[in-house]
Amino acid sequence: MGFRHVFVCVNQRPPGHPQPSCGDRGSRDVLSAFMEKLQTDPELFMSTAVTPTGCLGPCMMGPTVVVYPDAVWYGNVKPQDVDEIVEKHLKGGEPVERLVVSKGNPPGML
Ligand code: FES
Repeated sequence: MGFRHVFVCVNQRPPGHPQPSCGDRGSRDVLSAFMEKLQTDPELFMSTAVTPTGCLGPCMMGPTVVVYPDAVWYGNVKPQDVDEIVEKHLKGGEPVERLVVSKGNPPGML
């Protein structure tokens, strides 16, 4: 299992802002779920970094998670999806296709 870095957008826009934000859509709970997995799984802990970030771009599809070096972009990620991302992708090397919104560049970018 190669080293991977997971970025979770936790950007929070102020109430009433016209654009949605991952923070508004519960991304902090997604981040917590990843952190919990890391803390309870030594193998995962040694092979994975998880970092909260500001806006990654595809706010309309949030909560946004991106995994490098694979450059797999996930959208609409919920805390209950984290187990599957960990087992299938971070440990098994296979992206969870039902949540993938782009591979390579950010969604919508050439
Ligand atoms: S607010 Fe999360 S991608 Fe923009």
